[in-house]
Amino acid sequence: MFEQDEMEIITGEATSEEQSREPSLRPVDFNEYVGQKKIVSNIDIMVKSALLRQDAMDHVLLSGPPGLGKTSLAMILAKSLGSELHVISGPAIDKKGDLAAILTNLAPRDVLFIDEIHRMHISIEEILYSAMEDFRLDIVIGQGPSARTMQISIPPFTLVGATTRSGLISNPLRDRFMAHFHFDFYSSDELSMIVDNNAEKLGIKLESGASYLIASCARGTPRIAIRILRRVRDYCFVRGGSAVNTDDVKKALEMMDIDDQGLGRMDRKILEVIADYYSGGPVGIDALCATIGEERGTIEDVFEPYLLKEGYLIRTSRGRMIADKGIKHLEKLDGCV
Ligand SMILES: Nc1ncnc2c1ncn2[C@@H]1O[C@H](COP(=O)(O)OP(=O)(O)OP(=O)(O)O)[C@@H](O)[C@H]1O
Ligand SMILES: [Mg+2]
Repeated sequence: MFEQDEMEIITGEATSEEQSREPSLRPVDFNEYVGQKKIVSNIDIMVKSALLRQDAMDHVLLSGPPGLGKTSLAMILAKSLGSELHVISGPAIDKKGDLAAILTNLAPRDVLFIDEIHRMHISIEEILYSAMEDFRLDIVIGQGPSARTMQISIPPFTLVGATTRSGLISNPLRDRFMAHFHFDFYSSDELSMIVDNNAEKLGIKLESGASYLIASCARGTPRIAIRILRRVRDYCFVRGGSAVNTDDVKKALEMMDIDDQGLGRMDRKILEVIADYYSGGPVGIDALCATIGEERGTIEDVFEPYLLKEGYLIRTSRGRMIADKGIKHLEKLDGCV
């Protein structure tokens, strides 16, 4: 029963079930939003300034690995501005006219959230340039020598772009954002607070130590922490307990194939392939992905950032190498079997 979900547990990307359930678990205001203090205080100031000026807030770009709270923050931001939030996904817009229609239908000071903005088609992206800078749409009518440009004014609005790959955003688009905030992985203390808050919302009782154990195995990612919490609750129910204890957590983590450092099967596979197949590296990303049988984008966006940040992996100009910490971790796991 856990086999099918195994990959999802460790990726931080939202499952379809989570997409429908997440809205009720999201933090509702800046106070409930744990961590990312620098980003929150910057955005808080931008919101307050916009309210005082009675004008639209400046455009912001939010980047970072999946599940770190970009969408949640955009929702809080819009609510704090008292503005309506319109959510669209970059790759879902396939005609210039669709984006033009969305922009012309905005009310003054609305917030337009474009998720996965790096995956928007370049010809559609170009519409955003004048929209962001001058609140104007430049529409070309006709073709060839008889083509004319028509300009349409749109209401002042705030664009919030979210991306897991800020490096793939074109320079003209990036330059039009007044601020760019990069989300970092959360500390275990912060994740533990998020676990406690969510346990309360879900009506789950936690014995001492349980939330910290979940937090320390959640790859620095709130979405994964919440996912583990819900699995752990199942263990507690099945054994007929009234509160989740650390044994429930350990059993659930084992079933999910998450080790004591919070690494999942794909994390370990990446380290193992570099260590065994490529003698520790360096190995180019394309060769590595081909050997693992996973897409480059998934490795780069979802798995690598945490392995690099925690020092299991090193990125050099000649490719990826396993670090001492990675080798020691694999040796420790080998010793356990
Ligand atoms: N700072 C936070 N405080 C409390 N809960 C959080 C925080 N960040 C994220 N969460 C929780 O984690 C879940 C995932 O967050 P969110 O959807 O905002 O991530 P995301 O960065 O938009 O992910 P993706 O890149 O996949 O779109 C949310 O349901 C929310 O409850
Ligand atoms: Mg999101």
